[in-house]
Amino acid sequence: MMKTLIKNGTVVNSTGTAQADVLIDGETIAAVLAPGSTLLGFDLEQNVDTVIDAKGKYVIPGGIDAHTHMEMPFGGTFASDTFETGTRAAAWGGTTSIVDFVVQYAGENVLDQYKAWHEKADGNCAIDYGFHQILSDVQDSSLTAMDELINEGVSSFKLFMAYKGVFLSDDGQILRAFQKGAELGAMMMMHAENGAVIDVLVQQALAAGNTSPYYHGLTRPWQAEEEATHRAIMLANLTGAPLYVVHVSAKQAVEQITAARDNGQNVFGETCPQYLYLSLEEQLGASSEQWGDFEGAKWVCSTPLRSREEGHQHHMWQSLRTNDIQMVSTDHCPFCMKDQKDMGIGNFSKIPNGIGSVEHRMDLLYQGVVDGHITLERWVEVTSTTPARMFGMCGRKGVIQPGADGDIVVYDPKGHTSIGVGKTHHMNMDYSAWEGFEIDGHVDTVLSRGKVIVDDNQYLGKAGDGKFFKRGLSQYLT
Ligand code: URP
Ligand code: ZN
Ligand code: ZN
Ligand code: ZN
Repeated sequence: MMKTLIKNGTVVNSTGTAQADVLIDGETIAAVLAPGSTLLGFDLEQNVDTVIDAKGKYVIPGGIDAHTHMEMPFGGTFASDTFETGTRAAAWGGTTSIVDFVVQYAGENVLDQYKAWHEKADGNCAIDYGFHQILSDVQDSSLTAMDELINEGVSSFKLFMAYKGVFLSDDGQILRAFQKGAELGAMMMMHAENGAVIDVLVQQALAAGNTSPYYHGLTRPWQAEEEATHRAIMLANLTGAPLYVVHVSAKQAVEQITAARDNGQNVFGETCPQYLYLSLEEQLGASSEQWGDFEGAKWVCSTPLRSREEGHQHHMWQSLRTNDIQMVSTDHCPFCMKDQKDMGIGNFSKIPNGIGSVEHRMDLLYQGVVDGHITLERWVEVTSTTPARMFGMCGRKGVIQPGADGDIVVYDPKGHTSIGVGKTHHMNMDYSAWEGFEIDGHVDTVLSRGKVIVDDNQYLGKAGDGKFFKRGLSQYLT
C-alpha cells in the first residue's frame, strides 16, 4: 500500500483551517497531524513513498459535483462529454467525485435505464461517481424501482415540472413519487419551472418572429420558476418528503426556499456557477462575428440565465453566504456549437439545453473567496462538504479527517488559471462558456483515493481509476 504525506500545507475543512500534515495510507486518510509530527517515534517523511510539499498552499477535500449529465441523450443529440472525457476534465479542475443522473424517459423502465448507465460509466471514469435517478412518468414499476435503487446506493430522485413529452411529470405523478420518497427517506430533487406556461410563451415568441437565444431567457421568466418552486415545496410539505431544488437561478425562487426553511421544512437549494456569474443581458443577449445573435446559444440552459438588472446574481451570492442556498453544482451538460447547439439557428427552442462547467467549478467558486463573496471554509462547504452530507457520503467524502477517502486537492492561492479553449480546456466541447475568466488560484495536485491523478499541469490518472460509490440516505435532514 502506497503511503503519501502532504506536508506544510494549510488544511481547510468546512469547520475550520489549520496548519497540518496529512498522511494517506493506501486509499484512505490515516492521520491529520501537527506540522512536522512523528508517529510512534517514526519520522514520517522517511517512511512514506511520496511526499508532497504544500507550503503556502491550501489542502482541501476534493470537489464533489452532485449534478452532471455525461453523454445524456437530450434535444435530439447527446451531451458531448462521455464519462471518460467529462470525469477527466473534472479531475483537472479539482473535482474528485460526481453524482450523475440516470435518465428515464416516459415509457422506459427505470431499472433498465439504471443498468444502461452503469454500462456507460463503469470502467470509464477518472474519478469516483454515483447516480441519482430521474423519473419522468411515474409508473407503478417506477415506485417499486425506488425500493431497489435505495439498496443499490441511489438515494435521490429527480423529477421535472417542465419539458412536456420528454421529462415532465404532472402534479399527481410528483405526488406519488414524493409519497414514496417520504416513506423511504429519499431525497426528492426537482427541476422547478412551470412547463405549460413556458410552452405557450415559446410558441408566442416564435410566432412573433423572435427566434434568437435571448428569447430562451425571456420565455422562461422568473415567475415560472417561483411558481413551480412553491408548488414543489407544497407537494413536499403535503407528503413529508425532503426536497432539493436543483439549479435555482431566480431570487424569487430562493425566497420560496428560504420561507420553507424558516418554516422548518427539509427544503434545500442548489445553484450553479452560471447563475452566480453570467446574465441574460451579457451572455444570452451576446452577438459575435462568427455566430451573430446566435452567439447566446452557448449559454442556453434551463433554468435560464437571469437579468443582472433585476439583481438575481447578487442575491444568489448572498444566499450562498447565509445558507439559504446550500451548495453549488455545475449541471454540467455540454453541447458543441457546431452540429449540436446550431440545430437551433432560427428557432431557439431547438437549441439543446446545457452548459459545460465541470472543470471550472472549484476555481470559479474560489474566485468568490478572492472577491469577498464567501469565506475559504464556505468554499469547501458548498463545493464538497455539503454535497457529501446532502447525498449520503458523509465521513467518506467532503472532509479531511482520518478514515475519509484520500480525495484531496492541493490548491495554490498564489497561482493563476486562465480559462478558455486552448488554455485550460479539457471538456469535450468546441467552445468554453467561461472563455476569458481569470482565476486568482490554481489546482496544483489532485489525489483520488490516495492516487495522484493530476500534478503540476499533468494528468497522471486513467479511465477506470474512478469507482462507483453507493450512497446512504441524506445526512443533512433535521
Ligand atoms: O439546461 C439544462 N439544465 N440541461 C440539463 C438538464 C437539466 O434540466 O438539468
Ligand atoms: Zn433540470
Ligand atoms: Zn441538470
Ligand atoms: Zn500552481
